[in-house]
Amino acid sequence: MKTPVTVLGLGAMGTALAQAFLAAGHPTTVWNRTPGRSPELEGAVRAATAAEAVAASPLVVVCLLVDTTVRDTLDGIDLTGKVVANLTNSTPDQARALSDEFVARGASYLDGGIMAVPAMIGGPAAFIFYSGDSAAYERHQADLAPLARPVYVGKDAGLAALYDIALLSGMYGMFAGAQHALALMQSEEIPAVEFAEQFLIPWLTAMLGTVSGMAADLDNPPAPGTAGSNLAMQAAAFDNLIDTAVAQGVDPSLLVPVGDVLNKAVAAGHGDEDLAAMIRVLKTNA
Ligand SMILES: NC(=O)c1ccc[n+]([C@@H]2O[C@H](COP(=O)([O-])OP(=O)(O)OC[C@H]3O[C@@H](n4cnc5c(N)ncnc54)[C@H](OP(=O)(O)O)[C@@H]3O)[C@@H](O)[C@H]2O)c1
Repeated sequence: MKTPVTVLGLGAMGTALAQAFLAAGHPTTVWNRTPGRSPELEGAVRAATAAEAVAASPLVVVCLLVDTTVRDTLDGIDLTGKVVANLTNSTPDQARALSDEFVARGASYLDGGIMAVPAMIGGPAAFIFYSGDSAAYERHQADLAPLARPVYVGKDAGLAALYDIALLSGMYGMFAGAQHALALMQSEEIPAVEFAEQFLIPWLTAMLGTVSGMAADLDNPPAPGTAGSNLAMQAAAFDNLIDTAVAQGVDPSLLVPVGDVLNKAVAAGHGDEDLAAMIRVLKTNA
């Protein structure tokens, strides 16, 4: 028999996770604060309380709104001998603190960062970062695989959240650029889909290819004066991005902080370097 699993939380994501466990043949117990959610989960056992749901399975997958929701939901529940895989979005410090607390209460703790939207769960593009108890991960890696490709990133329980939040931060920055570009086009009523498909997406895709060069410059700083697109030149041109936005009636709020960091890097003496120098001046604990 496949490992019995419990899913706490039947929001959009928890429901997709429970569906994937059921499809893979795992006896699946579910609990949600508001009863009656997700009637499509045929075959799941619906626990009346979170405590009853936790007691039902050795592997407890938690997918609630935020860290405090997890703490409140599991407060006072016996976790002895359970593997808790918390896939709720968290900060690294929240994950570490929760790990310490749950381990003290007799559980093994895995933190997870889901890199997918609910419709992608169980599909080929989805993956989930895990960190924390390596023995628990090895024991349940195959059980967790039907949700999404599992990627273990280390024993420090905070690491999955760090990887997750790094990718989400990259995503929001990329979306911010795309949103601003589309707003500029809207200012002249240029059709959005055509612009996005013909120009914006190919351009951003090509530019994404340069990120590996930026990363390589971080690992091995290049010789001075070899930058193809030096920051002093980029900072000078950046004013035109802000001025154009203002002139077109577009709020430059999404761009202004990028210009600030660019200018900070130039002021710190990195004007003859390439974009990796901006990453160096982002460090606040140097
Ligand atoms: N959806 C995504 O695209 C996505 C992608 C990656 C990661 N995630 C993460 O997955 C987690 C769940 O997201 P979701 O999309 O499932 O959110 P959601 O659809 O808004 O569902 C939120 C869940 O949290 C429960 N909840 C909220 N407040 C609660 C409380 N005070 N006590 C007990 N339960 C409470 C809700 O229960 P009720 O039904 O009773 O309100 C529901 O089960 C979040 O941490 C999110 O960041 C989501």
